[in-house]
Amino acid sequence: MLVSAKDMLVKAKEGHYAVGQFNINNLEWTKSVLLTAEELKSPVILGVSEGAGKYMTGFSTVAAMVREMDKNLGITVPVALHLDHGTYEGCYKCIKAGFTSIMFDGSHYDINENVAKTQELVNVAHQLGLSIEAEVGSIGGEEDGVIGMGECADPAECKRIADLGVDMLAAGIGNIHGKYPEGWPGLRFDVLDAIQKETGVMPLVLHGGTGIPSDMIKKAIDLGVSKINVNTECQLSFADATRKYIEAGKDLEGKGFDPRKLLAPGAEAIKATVKEKMELFGSVGKA
Ligand code: 13P
Repeated sequence: MLVSAKDMLVKAKEGHYAVGQFNINNLEWTKSVLLTAEELKSPVILGVSEGAGKYMTGFSTVAAMVREMDKNLGITVPVALHLDHGTYEGCYKCIKAGFTSIMFDGSHYDINENVAKTQELVNVAHQLGLSIEAEVGSIGGEEDGVIGMGECADPAECKRIADLGVDMLAAGIGNIHGKYPEGWPGLRFDVLDAIQKETGVMPLVLHGGTGIPSDMIKKAIDLGVSKINVNTECQLSFADATRKYIEAGKDLEGKGFDPRKLLAPGAEAIKATVKEKMELFGSVGKA
């Protein structure tokens, strides 16, 4: 059931758990995430970066695929189709394509411009029933061409953005997209705590979910994080399972080269990763 992310995140914040955003790259990814969410009766957010949208030939292709797959698989749990790290133009494209949620990443603008653009997009999104995520500070590392220096967010700026009526806020707290480097000092819980105090009941988003130790995830949820984004970890699971299949020579046995067979171990591996994360985030049975 395609819905905006608003209600599922309000419930998550009240219930002290988090909803996972899993980024999708193709049909197999989408199917694996949807089936796992249904099996575990968990709400879920499908994240689409601008790069992944382009790869799948455009946001309207993605929206049509997700909508039809959701219907044809008989998915009953709440599913939000969400733009990840959207540009101003990208947000309008996704609104037009039929997404149910958008992220406007204005973190590279100065705060006044971030506020002005976010405010405009909040008004448009809400008028059309979409939820909207904003960003303050920046997530370190690189994701699909979006590069961040990893500055921690300023709690006062977070309050300014939260007051615009955004449904969720991504704030840099030392988190990084992709694998965490050796010697990473960990999440800045002091900053998260200060942000949560300023922003109150508004759901906070933790990007860079790949590789954050379980105890830090749990502490982040305790401090007000209600949405956690995972991308790289599904990619690593998929690649690992696919490599094993090929290295074992299975593609050379019978019709093992059939893409439906070749991609099946990777698709199963994505399901296992999504399941593990949903259990850790506490969203199982919350649909
Ligand atoms: P990872 O790739 O580190 O899991 O981060 C995902 C993310 O934050 C998507 O916006």
